[in-house]
Amino acid sequence: MLKSILASLLTLTVSQVAAQDGPYYGNQSAPFYLVLKSENTTINGSYLSACHEGAAIEGLCLTPPSTSEYLHFTYNTSSYDPSATSGLLTWLLPAGNLNVSSSMRLSYGPASNVATPVIFPNDIDGTFVNFTAENQLGIKSYQDDTKPLPNYGEETVFRWYACMTYYGYLYHTLAWVMGKGEPQNPTCQKVEVFRIWA
Ligand SMILES: *[C@@H]1O[C@H](CO)[C@@H](O)[C@H](O)[C@H]1NC(C)=O
Ligand SMILES: *[C@@H]1O[C@H](CO)[C@@H](O)[C@H](O)[C@H]1NC(C)=O
Ligand SMILES: *[C@@H]1O[C@H](CO)[C@@H](O)[C@H](O)[C@H]1NC(C)=O
Ligand SMILES: *[C@@H]1O[C@H](CO)[C@@H](O)[C@H](O)[C@H]1NC(C)=O
Ligand SMILES: *[C@@H]1O[C@H](CO)[C@@H](O)[C@H](O)[C@H]1NC(C)=O
Ligand SMILES: *[C@@H]1O[C@H](CO)[C@@H](O)[C@H](O)[C@H]1NC(C)=O
Repeated sequence: MLKSILASLLTLTVSQVAAQDGPYYGNQSAPFYLVLKSENTTINGSYLSACHEGAAIEGLCLTPPSTSEYLHFTYNTSSYDPSATSGLLTWLLPAGNLNVSSSMRLSYGPASNVATPVIFPNDIDGTFVNFTAENQLGIKSYQDDTKPLPNYGEETVFRWYACMTYYGYLYHTLAWVMGKGEPQNPTCQKVEVFRIWA
């Protein structure tokens, strides 16, 4: 009984703190565009746009440059940890009379090594990303399982590809390949992703 009273008091305190201090990942960057670099001149220089994959869910589709809000992304880091070197890739979903800050997560399936980045409302299950000093989008690796485990180190990996993917629709989107191997989806082409301030 006492435990459950304490637990509900604690929950109350935590939610009050959250309500007072705003979102946990509330340190937001200026807006930027995400631009692809590729050896293939057809897709080199393509931008990424939030594209409809389902109700309040977007993918990251290849698109020509434009100043549309659908191409404006931001990077949110922890409001509490100034030393954080990873954060969320965020986008503002226009939803009628309000805008909902949404974050990118990788959608994985056990049968493929190709994951699809999708944007969902809020910060739940967001995948942490990093931008290097050269503004290149990467993801941190903290253990390398190709070597004896456990091993600890911080390495930024860049396993982005442009592929035909199917989450809600068949689109040409950004994708992420898990591990060091080649993507099993034969439509995938290697790309690098850079931010350019809007
Ligand atoms: C990102 O930061 C902004 C500014 O604090 C905030 O309004 C938004 O809710 C944050 N987004 C997420 C997904 O946490
Ligand atoms: C890709 O585009 C960039 C920027 O315009 C350019 O510097 C680079 O040479 C291009 N690469 C190829 C393979 O065309
Ligand atoms: C370049 O990209 C286009 C568009 O995805 C594709 O149709 C074409 O086959 C690619 N070219 C090469 C040489 O991979
Ligand atoms: C918020 O981000 C800025 C740079 O974008 C940084 O200078 C500042 O220390 C960050 N604050 C916290 C609390 O992480
Ligand atoms: C990305 O990681 C590097 C190396 O840890 C760090 O110096 C840099 O600040 C990080 N970038 C962002 C935008 O958090
Ligand atoms: C939603 O965001 C757009 C673009 O940033 C802005 O013009 C609009 O005023 C915002 N709407 C609300 C209700 O905040």
